[in-house]
Amino acid sequence: MRGVRAFEPLLAALAALATAAAAQEDGAPPSRIAVVGAGIGGSATARFLRQHFGPDVQLDVYEKGEVGGRLATVTVNRNRYESGASIIHALNLHMHDFVKQLGLKQRRSVAGKTAVFDGASVVAEETDWYLLDLLRLWWRYGSSFIRLQMWLEEIMEKFIRIYKYQAHGFAFGSLEELLESLGGSGFVNMTRRPLSDSLLELGVSQRFIDEVVAPVIRLNYGQNVSVPAFVGAVSLASAQSNLWAVEGGNKLLCEGLLKSANANLLRARVTSVRTLRSGGALRYELGLAGEGPERRTAAYDAVVVAAPLRAGADISFPDWASPAVPGEGEWQSTVVTLVHGYLNTSLFGFRDPRLFPYAGVLTTAAPALFFNSVAGVYPVEVPPGFRRKRAHEAAVYKVFSPAVLTGEQLKTLFRSYYSAQATEWRAYPRYGSAAGATLPPVELGPHLYYLNGIEWAGSAMEMSAVAAKNIALLAYRRWNGRSLRVNREDLLRAIKTEL
Ligand SMILES: Cc1cc2nc3c(=O)[nH]c(=O)nc-3n(C[C@H](O)[C@H](O)[C@H](O)COP(=O)(O)OP(=O)(O)OC[C@H]3O[C@@H](n4cnc5c(N)ncnc54)[C@H](O)[C@@H]3O)c2cc1C
Ligand SMILES: *[C@@H]1O[C@H](CO)[C@@H](O)[C@H](O)[C@H]1NC(C)=O
Ligand SMILES: *[C@@H]1O[C@H](CO)[C@@H](O)[C@H](O)[C@H]1NC(C)=O
Ligand SMILES: *[C@@H]1O[C@H](CO)[C@@H](O)[C@H](O)[C@H]1NC(C)=O
Repeated sequence: MRGVRAFEPLLAALAALATAAAAQEDGAPPSRIAVVGAGIGGSATARFLRQHFGPDVQLDVYEKGEVGGRLATVTVNRNRYESGASIIHALNLHMHDFVKQLGLKQRRSVAGKTAVFDGASVVAEETDWYLLDLLRLWWRYGSSFIRLQMWLEEIMEKFIRIYKYQAHGFAFGSLEELLESLGGSGFVNMTRRPLSDSLLELGVSQRFIDEVVAPVIRLNYGQNVSVPAFVGAVSLASAQSNLWAVEGGNKLLCEGLLKSANANLLRARVTSVRTLRSGGALRYELGLAGEGPERRTAAYDAVVVAAPLRAGADISFPDWASPAVPGEGEWQSTVVTLVHGYLNTSLFGFRDPRLFPYAGVLTTAAPALFFNSVAGVYPVEVPPGFRRKRAHEAAVYKVFSPAVLTGEQLKTLFRSYYSAQATEWRAYPRYGSAAGATLPPVELGPHLYYLNGIEWAGSAMEMSAVAAKNIALLAYRRWNGRSLRVNREDLLRAIKTEL
């Protein structure tokens, strides 16, 4: 996370601007707010901004690519499949609310057994019978499984406090304050130490880490158990049951949120954010890619950047000494390939595909394999009469890998195939060594907010939604010159008395 510290020069340069902003608080509502990015983060921000600022503010959402961002589908054999973010946890309450409020439907993920492959054989597997699972895990890993489960439950119990705080209008000026309000300094520390350290300290065995934890982190983040403990917990929580997705595709959420926010969707790439001064007021102007008079936008009273800021990437801030942001190399590439074909079950030790009992296979970190996982998948709309295919039948599989699969690799993984479609994602931060790093700022300047810093604490749809709600609340409070109500003791007391 080296690059994250490099936000400091930007912050210092902006401190000078803060005084100018104070002049703006004359009680008038903002007339225009811009959001950069129409992924789940930007779309949710638009909706929450509308709820807080009311019907009169003009909300412009800029999108250079497709609405949905990292929520996307590809078509295979006439059905559509999720190629980006696919699963939502039962406790992801913002996502849950969105689906309900937008009149969408939940599509449950149908359970199938998962195995872990180490390049030579299957080293761990799920079974159909939960109790048997527990006994087997107990036998192989001692109490590691129970310890991990208790740790995750404790973390989730604390994390869901965010919904209560946000419902009561609390906003946080930094990610550290947000995390601290939920889980004290323990949560902040979890963003700064490796997952493996936290787990070993809990008494989880090295074998369990290698054979169960590492494969899950490889699946979700394409990385190893050196990722920060907080990210690790987000990832491991997603390996529990009770997962769902949106019927028709997760990106329907973004389309629905933008519509319900009554936001103007503008198809353009934002290249710069400049300050404009007229009178005492500070406003922002966005530079847009392309030719002609439309290259500059109108003045905005507030701007929310809801896209990852990366060095060499899209957006510059020319009015302050070029802010350093995390480099391209600090984002993990993950390739998602949807393959329609016959899985080569021999690779996993099953000569007869009829006997292959698994729906998905995860892999251990060592030895380095060319794929992170392979699993049979369902379309976003499950057609009537659809059933999970067995391994001796042609089916659609999703393969995660660190690089585009070569023909040779595809032929190793599949006996034969009809089609293979790859999507290359700059998927999530490359967490690297977490030691001592700080998280990116939420406020880049007065009324200028950055949503995707939260991905350095944990990258998931719900994390972006939590950040969106926080920024909408923060923007509203800042605009009206109100305090943030961030102190944790106050927070608990206020909630007790208000309930
Ligand atoms: C392969 C994969 C699998 C994943 N699986 C899961 C999962 O199962 N569950 C889960 O919860 N999370 C998952 N995630 C993580 C999840 O996708 C992200 O955390 C989340 O979608 C981030 O949303 P966002 O809106 O913040 O960012 P994005 O989705 O990246 O949205 C940013 C948007 O901004 C646009 N943009 C960027 N720059 C500009 C510019 N200069 N001007 C205009 N527009 C711009 C982009 O085109 C994009 O649409 C996965 C991610 C990947 C890549
Ligand atoms: C978090 O780290 C700080 C500094 O190292 C330490 O003082 C604090 O006790 C830690 N908190 C917890 C809950 O471990
Ligand atoms: C995890 O990967 C990083 C590099 O990406 C490496 O520095 C680190 O040693 C690895 N950790 C483990 C436990 O393998
Ligand atoms: C399948 O896997 C086996 C075992 O690794 C390998 O020998 C074979 O070449 C692979 N491909 C096919 C098409 O069977």
